[in-house]
Amino acid sequence: MSEKRVSRREFLKIAGVGLAATAFTCSSLGYAATRQPQVDLPEMNLEKENAMKKILVTYSTRAGSTAEIAATIGQTLSQRGYSVDVLPVKKQPNPSDYDAVILGSPIRMGSWLPEVIDFIKENRTLLEPMPVAVFTVHMLNSGNDEESRTNRQAYLNAVREWISPAEEVFFLGKMELAKLSFLDRFISNVMKAKDEDLRDWNTINAFAESVFA
Ligand SMILES: Cc1cc2nc3c(=O)[nH]c(=O)nc-3n(C[C@H](O)[C@H](O)[C@H](O)COP(=O)(O)O)c2cc1C
Repeated sequence: MSEKRVSRREFLKIAGVGLAATAFTCSSLGYAATRQPQVDLPEMNLEKENAMKKILVTYSTRAGSTAEIAATIGQTLSQRGYSVDVLPVKKQPNPSDYDAVILGSPIRMGSWLPEVIDFIKENRTLLEPMPVAVFTVHMLNSGNDEESRTNRQAYLNAVREWISPAEEVFFLGKMELAKLSFLDRFISNVMKAKDEDLRDWNTINAFAESVFA
């Protein structure tokens, strides 16, 4: 077997290309694993002539179930005579354009989605003096026992760091594995989660009928 000496310069070149290829593969795999299937983000502008108040319903979602809840709340509020905008937080609505705000997020790994917390943080001085209600969409800790209630309340820890909502409500959500990223699907499979829709539209509408009454 012939032995070929590799110069220091060649060695650095080979190592550099190897490192770049590894970094590229890892980042591509990482990106592919967290890539989210396309999900609808409803935006609604439900104007009412002579409306008593204008309400913002703003939300984020990963798989779409929270977005559908936000849209339903918006429609019910509109039927109650309010002017309503329903917008994803990533559209960065300005709370000072409204008389009251409803914020909604699903729970992922025990917390609200980071973009909704960022929205609250950035707008806290505007939100703090306003009527604010929050809705949380989740699948676990749904019981009425002490432990479930404590765990549910803990879902709002990051929210309460910045604001003190006047109303807080929890809705059971939906699992739809086909709408999850590879990584979320992997986590869901480990947790033995299955496709199921536990949203109770009567409870959701009851909240929208009474909030800010
Ligand atoms: C990866 C992953 C992690 C989740 N973590 C929690 C959790 O910690 N607690 C919980 O109650 N629900 C958890 N859920 C359930 C979601 O909150 C629920 O499916 C929700 O309806 C998803 O909302 P979305 O469709 O708007 O994204 C999790 C779901 C997924 C896919």
